[in-house]
Amino acid sequence: MKLWAGRFSKEADKQLDDFNSSISVDSRMIKEDILGSIAHAAMLKKQGIIAPGEADKITAGLQDILHDLQSGALTVDMEAEDVHTFVEATLTERLGETGKRLHTARSRNDQVALDVRLYLRGRGEQLKKDLAALVTVLADKAAQHQETILPGYTHLQRAQPVTFAHHLLAYAQMFLRDMGRIGDALERMNEMPLGSGALATTTYPIDRWYTAELLGFSAPCANSLDGVSDRDFCVELAAALSLVMVHLSRFAEEIILWCSWEFRFVELDDAFSTGSSIMPQKKNPDIAELVRGKSGRVFGDLMALLSMLKGLPLAYNKDMQEDKEAVFDACDTVSACLAAFTPMVRTMRVNKQAMRHAAAAGFINATDCADYLVKKGMAFRDAYKLVGGLVAECIEKGKTLETLSLEEYKAASPVFESDVYEAIDLKNCTMGRGAYGGPAVESTTAQIDLVRKKLSEMEEKA
Ligand code: ARG
Repeated sequence: MKLWAGRFSKEADKQLDDFNSSISVDSRMIKEDILGSIAHAAMLKKQGIIAPGEADKITAGLQDILHDLQSGALTVDMEAEDVHTFVEATLTERLGETGKRLHTARSRNDQVALDVRLYLRGRGEQLKKDLAALVTVLADKAAQHQETILPGYTHLQRAQPVTFAHHLLAYAQMFLRDMGRIGDALERMNEMPLGSGALATTTYPIDRWYTAELLGFSAPCANSLDGVSDRDFCVELAAALSLVMVHLSRFAEEIILWCSWEFRFVELDDAFSTGSSIMPQKKNPDIAELVRGKSGRVFGDLMALLSMLKGLPLAYNKDMQEDKEAVFDACDTVSACLAAFTPMVRTMRVNKQAMRHAAAAGFINATDCADYLVKKGMAFRDAYKLVGGLVAECIEKGKTLETLSLEEYKAASPVFESDVYEAIDLKNCTMGRGAYGGPAVESTTAQIDLVRKKLSEMEEKA
């Protein structure tokens, strides 16, 4: 029997019922639905809208349902229309007449808006913790590689020397921003829609501030039409999660490159790679590839949410039932990716020699060679051109800037002295970049400290 049976004389078509139903997606919010109802009942009692005895029975009944769900004594009926209908029907089945009083001064429209916020609040907090675990691994690994030199790239061409710590700490910054963005979304999400009713509140003397306080919201939504129509918070969370996936996919791509025999900068632990069914030599970085691939799903979820909301008139429209599948999938995907990615990064072995070798071969000290001439008084443009000529000479002779003789240097410019070798020494070039944010040890130490400080600040706030 349907909730709205009074108005209807015909049973709905079974296929249409299935089409209309959202229980397979929204049953995961059952705890939030029950907790929201318990707070609603408490408010109805305090305001004298329902008798105290009945309110107490409703509260106890809802707690029993929650308990029975957790113990397995009660399972969700997948034939129900949605989670709200299931909880109310079960309560009424158990309490009779009293159960029917719970829905006083409430609509499923404000109820679902509440449940989604409560549910996403929990998921968002957990995702922030998952990101913090990754950032912690990055900071710890960075601390071990402050002197591990590798080429930094632009256009995927060897450019200037950096350290592995410096490189990892760049990702730490991205994931810290992601945590901040999720936190911002959660903060704006933290307004309580219950009491908006179907769209225009209610004539009952409800106390929305009280319900908001009971459920840990900062305030009730200020406008009831907005309260039931707003799904910005789903979009904001999906957008923040899309950026998490952008960052994960960039990192995944680098790890995939680094694992190749062309680079051999890192080796993934056996537990985080797979073999080939035919090629015995293979060790494939599947997890990194899958993470890179799954980014598309989350962008799709964001696009689905935006398209669903675009052009919707106020207030609730059934289109909005599509919100949950998209935003839940975004949460599930990011959480699964992080669960695989973080231990993969933690256990990967770093091949310092291969990194150092690559750093020695790509003329990544050419800028430093030009800077050497500038420090001796030459204009940078002239120095740039002169060193470009030296690099061409090296390529022709199969040499590096380190192995050019002083005579060869002097032939290019009399300004060169024997101290040029010190100026282009890779270690000196890297450790000389001590500006704020750079690769030198004192700078990466400061970055690690900053990352750890931000992590603990965010932890304290949570
Ligand atoms: N299952 C619905 C949803 O997820 C709940 C709200 C239903 N409200 C309505 N007026 N049909 O959006």
